[in-house]
Amino acid sequence: MKKKFHSKSAKETMKHGEEFAKILKQGDIVAFYGELGSGKTTMIKGICKGFGVEKGVKSPSFVFLRIYKAQYTLYHFDFYRLKRKEELINVGYDEFFYDSGIVLLEWADRIEDLLPESRFEVVMKISNENEREIHISHTGRRVWSMQ
Ligand SMILES: Nc1ncnc2c1ncn2[C@@H]1O[C@H](COP(=O)(O)OP(=O)(O)OP(=O)(O)O)[C@@H](O)[C@H]1O
Ligand SMILES: [Mg+2]
Repeated sequence: MKKKFHSKSAKETMKHGEEFAKILKQGDIVAFYGELGSGKTTMIKGICKGFGVEKGVKSPSFVFLRIYKAQYTLYHFDFYRLKRKEELINVGYDEFFYDSGIVLLEWADRIEDLLPESRFEVVMKISNENEREIHISHTGRRVWSMQ
């Protein structure tokens, strides 16, 4: 199962995030890929909004993890500034990755070999200033569908 969306604004990308949130379950991991400014954080804002978290969602660049408490615990990582993956190993990342929350990973390609095999992948592509393509897929056997 693969899904492709076309978004014409940041607001629309948030809406896709909110829709995506509806299918997310405890234990799901979502790896986000896409260049700077492609809309990863915007999509995550939408996902968090879908879980009722409207404030304080921003790129956790300096701390590389933000935790939002909702129906499930949402772990929002951003690996843009991660220099060595040992930094992540040292904080015991697997406690978060394999917890009963939902894990959202920006710049997932920076930690490729630490990524759980079974995960959603969201690839964001810039078409032009205000337009993005959003590709959603899952690497494992997780059954899901979106309209
Ligand atoms: N269709 C769109 N979807 C998402 N963002 C858009 C869209 N059109 C314009 N934008 C703008 O692009 C920027 C996207 O920023 P955002 O922080 O979400 O990207 P990012 O992929 O998380 O970047 P970074 O790699 O720096 O973390 C915002 O300024 C947003 O307003
Ligand atoms: Mg971001």
